[in-house]
Amino acid sequence: MANAPLTADDNVIDYLAAHERKGLMRFITCGSVDDGKSTLIGRLLYDSKLLYDDQLAALESDTKKHGTQGEKIDFALLVDGLAAEREQGITIDVAYRFFSTEKRKFIVADTPGHEQYTRNMATGASTADLAVILIDARRGVLTQTRRHSYIASLLGIRHVVVAVNKMDLAGYSEKTFREIESAYREFAEPLGFSSIAVMPLSALEGDNMITKSPHTPWYDGAALLPYLETVNVRESQDDKPFRMPVQWVNRPNLDFRGFSGTIASGTVNPGDDIVVLPSAKRSKVERIVTMDGDMDKAGPDMAVTVTLEDEIDISRGDILCAGQAPAEQTDQFAAHLLWMAEDKLFPGRQYLLKTANRIVPATITELKHKVNVNTLEHMSGKTLELNEVGFCNFNLAQPIAFDPYNDNRRTGSFILIDKRTNATIGAGMIDFSLRRAQNVHWQDLDVNKSARASTKHQRPCVLWFTGLSGSGKSTVANLVEKRLHDLGRHTYTLDGDNVRHGLNKDLGFTDADRVENIRRVAESAKLMADAGLIVCVSFISPFQSERLMARELLEDGEFVEVYISTPLEVCEQRDVKGLYAKARRGEIKNFTGIDSAYEAPQRAEIDVDTSDIPAADAADAIVEYLQGNGYLEG
Ligand code: ADX
Repeated sequence: MANAPLTADDNVIDYLAAHERKGLMRFITCGSVDDGKSTLIGRLLYDSKLLYDDQLAALESDTKKHGTQGEKIDFALLVDGLAAEREQGITIDVAYRFFSTEKRKFIVADTPGHEQYTRNMATGASTADLAVILIDARRGVLTQTRRHSYIASLLGIRHVVVAVNKMDLAGYSEKTFREIESAYREFAEPLGFSSIAVMPLSALEGDNMITKSPHTPWYDGAALLPYLETVNVRESQDDKPFRMPVQWVNRPNLDFRGFSGTIASGTVNPGDDIVVLPSAKRSKVERIVTMDGDMDKAGPDMAVTVTLEDEIDISRGDILCAGQAPAEQTDQFAAHLLWMAEDKLFPGRQYLLKTANRIVPATITELKHKVNVNTLEHMSGKTLELNEVGFCNFNLAQPIAFDPYNDNRRTGSFILIDKRTNATIGAGMIDFSLRRAQNVHWQDLDVNKSARASTKHQRPCVLWFTGLSGSGKSTVANLVEKRLHDLGRHTYTLDGDNVRHGLNKDLGFTDADRVENIRRVAESAKLMADAGLIVCVSFISPFQSERLMARELLEDGEFVEVYISTPLEVCEQRDVKGLYAKARRGEIKNFTGIDSAYEAPQRAEIDVDTSDIPAADAADAIVEYLQGNGYLEG
């Protein structure tokens, strides 16, 4: 009864109660374009009689308009809701669908198989219990099959159904099926799935979809829907230790102080011991408050407000953990990272890392290896490109609380965000904390920056000169340092050409090396500012991200960006070192302005064009800026 749509005769309460009691399974479908995912889902909905009359009428009329199946109903149209998909003939977004049978409720994420849409697949997979991986019987196991299986395993899916579809077009051949089955099982063996069911299907013809097909008498497994209804996938979030990220502190009046959030895992009862991270303060649960009154016990996915027996300092972004099994804390860890952006990954560049409860600046300090999704082999590499997976070391600006992803998918995962565009560029799964994070501490020093600066009677700052090669950065920086020196100031100049002879002599001019070049120089400049100096930094520093990183590394007001905006034509005409001519002849690769990008600053404190004014005047203007803004007082 609960399977069919509600009719006037049904008792609404019974109907809802029957639904309520059934377990929920989330699964994803994935495979290559044209494997027939949408048809498969459409067929499940259609054959399990979950369509309403008006949906059926719309489907029949759509089939006449857009269908690709002649007179037969085109089930894919039921699922491919987006107009764009119909026009392109591919599925382009994750579509979640709910359906229900007598035995179970299902949420299915239809994830696209097209090469560049792997990120959608990852989105769908992160909450799924099971993956239905489609294979076209005529084409066998493809790169996409392997990629999707690997990502599914990486994202913690433990159960797989391999739907060998279009068996009708392969003459229902047992030999074909067995070959695909053994190829898949061999590939998937190291992925460690708990269960793999391989089924010969025709979603279009309905073979082995709802009932066993007479066309495959040699197949002794279950049909798809009965299998999905009964397969045991529950590895419950209930059994894991209690975790609740605090979304807000609920303080309506002085007598009440509760911590509200959605329980990520585990259960909680009044009287339970609690540890709050990051402070590691302890208390006991006093009450579990909800809109419908207090509860004796609350579990995963419930939105509750918890009050504690003691007055301890807790704020948004903290995480409440079971007292006996708290999460770990670290600012350095190793993780698997799925790269989702067109722009490649740069180790050393600062990104934002977002966990269930916090956003912190993070850099990838080392790409340990990439994973070849076809062979699962480890490969060395300097960067990750779209859809690639790597195993990386991360360094965070502040510690986070986490569990290894294998123990807890909610508190062990994160996304990476591009600071400039706010786009999601990666999805990560934390493997383990790096021990050295626990063993390296900050040493408190009695003589600090302000003490060092005050004996020099100056305010430390970093004058960051950026611009094309030949723009005049070093000439102007040199004059500025001379003027400051004459004024009795304590200074130092870090110049690209010079630093590349020493500290950075291992670096070339690829984008990745330039990122690392600037990271090291920014850290060096910070140390010098800490020593109380006025530092001139003269590097092309072509990328906004790294200049922003340098700015954020320093204290407010310490970073003064000086854009030497001399146009490319002028720099090339000057060509003091003859490098532009070489670059034009193709003798130097990746030359800034010729075949390597320069991203101009958008909010430089100072902008000078040395084709407009002489270098000496530019230097005077910069020193005046420092005087006018109080940098030289003291
Ligand atoms: S940055 O891009 O990484 O900031 P940096 O300022 O250290 O560059 O070094 C630039 C200097 O290296 C230039 O002034 C030039 O003399 C030299 N150089 C050699 N090859 C290149 C290149 N491919 N691109 C830019 N500069 C180069």
